[in-house]
Amino acid sequence: MSIIDSPGKRQTQQERFEKTRTLIYPDSSQASQELAAEVAELIRTRQGKGERVVLGLATGSTPVPFYRELIRLHREEGLSFSNVTTFNLDEYYGLAGDHRESYCQFMRDQLFDHIDIPEENINIPDGTVPLDKVYESCLAYEARIEAAGGLDLQILGIGRTGHIGFNEPGSSKDSMTRLITLDRVTRQDAAADFLGVQNVPRFAVTMGVGTILKAKRLVLMAWGENKAEIVREAVEGTVTDQVSASFLQEHDNSTFLVDAAAASKLTRRSYPWLVGSVEWDKAMTRRAVIWLSRKLEKPVLKVIEEEYNENVVGELLTAAGPAYQVNIGVFNQLQHTITGWPGGKPDADDTNRPERAQPHPKRVLIFSPEPHDAFVGMGGTIERLVEQGHEVKIAIQTSGNLRVSDVAAYKFASVVREMAELIGGQGWEGQLSYANDIIGQLEEKGEFGIDPERVRKLKGLILRGEARDAARVCGVVDEALTFLDMPFYEAGRYRRFSLTDADVDIIASLLENYQPHQIYVTGDVADPSSLQALCFRAFANAIPEGGWTTDCRVWLYRGKELSLAGHEIDMAVPMSPDQLGLKSESLRKFQSINADELETPERNRETAREYDRLGMAEYEGIEAFQRWCQGSFA
Ligand code: GLP
Repeated sequence: MSIIDSPGKRQTQQERFEKTRTLIYPDSSQASQELAAEVAELIRTRQGKGERVVLGLATGSTPVPFYRELIRLHREEGLSFSNVTTFNLDEYYGLAGDHRESYCQFMRDQLFDHIDIPEENINIPDGTVPLDKVYESCLAYEARIEAAGGLDLQILGIGRTGHIGFNEPGSSKDSMTRLITLDRVTRQDAAADFLGVQNVPRFAVTMGVGTILKAKRLVLMAWGENKAEIVREAVEGTVTDQVSASFLQEHDNSTFLVDAAAASKLTRRSYPWLVGSVEWDKAMTRRAVIWLSRKLEKPVLKVIEEEYNENVVGELLTAAGPAYQVNIGVFNQLQHTITGWPGGKPDADDTNRPERAQPHPKRVLIFSPEPHDAFVGMGGTIERLVEQGHEVKIAIQTSGNLRVSDVAAYKFASVVREMAELIGGQGWEGQLSYANDIIGQLEEKGEFGIDPERVRKLKGLILRGEARDAARVCGVVDEALTFLDMPFYEAGRYRRFSLTDADVDIIASLLENYQPHQIYVTGDVADPSSLQALCFRAFANAIPEGGWTTDCRVWLYRGKELSLAGHEIDMAVPMSPDQLGLKSESLRKFQSINADELETPERNRETAREYDRLGMAEYEGIEAFQRWCQGSFA
């Protein structure tokens, strides 16, 4: 299917809620490859005619797979960029071009240093012009675009506030390149890149909505569940300056390219019965009934015949009615997800239980991308599994050292130094020089510099200690913790990690040696570029097919990302107030991790309330899991 050359194609019945053409792909790499192929075609066609191509480019993690594919096309298929001129959307104000978080640097790292584009063809807004010259410099940027013949194709990502470029809520349709104040949400989203929200610039220079809409063709990409809500607003909502991406609805040649997760809140995906006929299998029925029950604010068993008809799901009753029959079916399904025996209940009939009874006890392997993730996502369940006699092993995939503050590292180094001094130095020379070295390195790099290897190592050790403390609260002995320190993490930074074969091999050999009966792994893959998503991918690539895996079930837990919705839950492990208290206690052991990352008991309470509202028993908290089958991403 051509992305570039088939604008305005008639929308199908399923797409009638969507006001901008939207193409859904199974994953970001397929979408990016197709877009890159179309761009390559455009470049080559123009080359053949001796003409130039003007591309508008974007930053952020979204276009990275697209840039990787362009680089591959250049290296392996001889695609030349000699006739390409580029204009970037935006730049942080106040950052020099060589600042490691500047978009100038980003573009060099991700694309320009790897292709043959002439330096003079690259244009990026200047974030260093003095304030009184910004206006002039923005006008000049607009003029340069005009002089180049206008943008042939503008690539866009979307921020959580719905911004394109940095056009935050309130940007008008005819706004031009200008200085803008960054929204609070946008700054929070950039916090990990800048090692703390306080370091994120407050302003940026961005092309305006008007500048962008003048492009002949617009392609907006969005990946991951994190973008699903804003994609829905932009594609299905009214056009408003509160969501600048919604202006794409008014452009006659614009397309959204989204992966399945980013499409998940579009009507055709979340409420497919509203846009056409659906096949009423078990999963779809459960989804529709839960939706209806929540919409009517009444428990599943109280929804009546007329309410099905009035809410466009009458067809379900024709297929499987009467209403009470359908309701009771869904009620039972929900009921069967609830279990206090996450490892399976020995000697019990397991026909309607989420986990099989045998073997018992089970070898259970729990993967935690960063040291705290497993405790955040399933601390209560860990405690249950241990108590119910299973052999529980927790594999902590990365050291998590980037999470630990300098203050914590400084504290440990200074304790060692003081101990050495107290003892009088004898036999402690090594420790003293180690402590002095750490303190010296911390001072030298300053608060926002990159940690030298030794400092990272120490920070990792601090987290190891905290993880052991947290595990002990859940009944897990020190020996049951394995620290994998996956190499990709040690070599990288947030949003710039890239997985290697060595990482996958580590997971593969652990699996091979332990051959677990039950595996828990993070399902926090809403942002495909996140550390958790990479750790999941390492696991998915490492697990073999067949062999011991035929007697193994894989469960996905959720941590601080979006909680599972009622229809997505395959196993719900209820917790009493005491058990939730224990979980909080174990999380409190992670003293060097920002408390925002750890506040999940409230989410467990919310899941319990959701079950309660649907008419299930009322628990204090629930940890929810989804079953994973090989081949599906999440
Ligand atoms: C920043 C950029 C946008 C980008 C957005 C989303 O705000 N200025 O151009 O679309 O981030 O970033 P990501 O692709 O990392 O989700």
